[in-house]
Amino acid sequence: EKGGFDHFTIKEIHEQPKALRDTMTSRIVAGQKVKLDDITITKEMLESYSRIYIVACGTAYNAGVVGKTAIESLAKIPVEVDVASEFRYRDPIIDSRTLLIVISQSGETADTLAVLRDSKKKGARVIAITNVVGSSVAREATDVFYTWAGPEIGVASTKAYLTMLIAVYTIALHFAELLGTMTDEETDVIKKEMLLLPDKVSKVIEQKENIQKFALKIHGEKDVFFIGRGLDYAVAIEAALKLKELTYIHADAYPGGELKHGPIALIEKNTSVLASLTQRSLMDKMHSNLKEVTSRGAKVMVVTYESNKTVDSFVDTAVHIPETIDLLAPVLAVVPMQLLSYYVCSFKGLDVDKPRNLAKSVTVE
Ligand code: M6R
Repeated sequence: EKGGFDHFTIKEIHEQPKALRDTMTSRIVAGQKVKLDDITITKEMLESYSRIYIVACGTAYNAGVVGKTAIESLAKIPVEVDVASEFRYRDPIIDSRTLLIVISQSGETADTLAVLRDSKKKGARVIAITNVVGSSVAREATDVFYTWAGPEIGVASTKAYLTMLIAVYTIALHFAELLGTMTDEETDVIKKEMLLLPDKVSKVIEQKENIQKFALKIHGEKDVFFIGRGLDYAVAIEAALKLKELTYIHADAYPGGELKHGPIALIEKNTSVLASLTQRSLMDKMHSNLKEVTSRGAKVMVVTYESNKTVDSFVDTAVHIPETIDLLAPVLAVVPMQLLSYYVCSFKGLDVDKPRNLAKSVTVE
């Protein structure tokens, strides 16, 4: 059942192109409006919402961080994103002018489900993004977006995360179309790029040997730092979570600009730093951040576009990913990070599919 792979996690990483294709099928078609049969929100409703919250836990929260940028930049509606266990106890402002989007692979996460129930009671409309048909969040939400990742067995989420990104992009495009915040030409550029992502993910996976070599260099480390700006920071938080779960190495993620506000004090000779570098308007700033750490002797791996050869001269390993539009880059940039965690985990001989202390579905708070 592992289809020739040693573990479910690596099998699921390789299934990502298919998961992306399946999740986009019939919803994203070039030259046509987004089709979302299970989301019945109208333009009038959307105009009546004063705020959108995206609430989730763990990796689903990390997808929500991308969702905030996607909805704000395409549909121009302000979005707040929060972790469910914080949101539910902070007395958030919720009424009938609130739209809540919950994201949950399993659809059974206790805190996420509690937020859904409380918010519905207070009059909010709830869209659920989930991978499990008929799960609690799917049954109880007003509208549902099913990701079609297929069953995810590895406790560390990989393919489900990628399909959650497709979900938030698709919803953002749908809202933009309803509200008329973008022209058809503009939305079409994004749709065409989305449809190219599955093949591009396959290309990224082909670079596994390069990533494996860097994994060998860092597998004995105690701490690893991830940095990025904008959507690359969203990649960094997901990458750090994956490394912690799969390798038990302490990993932290920081926005590049925050380095000099504290974390740089920890950088010394041979500290491992991993960076995602895909947001074109922030490239120069990230290059400066990288120089700040390499000049202190850090070992650096960078994930960046094929065209960005500038970094090759001053980092240990550069993983080059195919070009795409910046908004969609997290889909490609996170894949080398998943592979890195997988390889470090195998070098350490740990249980890849079932890391200690973790459960696939967290049904108690
Ligand atoms: O099923 P959910 O998406 O609600 O699960 C949320 C988190 O428990 C989950 O993403 C967890 O962080 C994963 N182990 C991440 O790899």
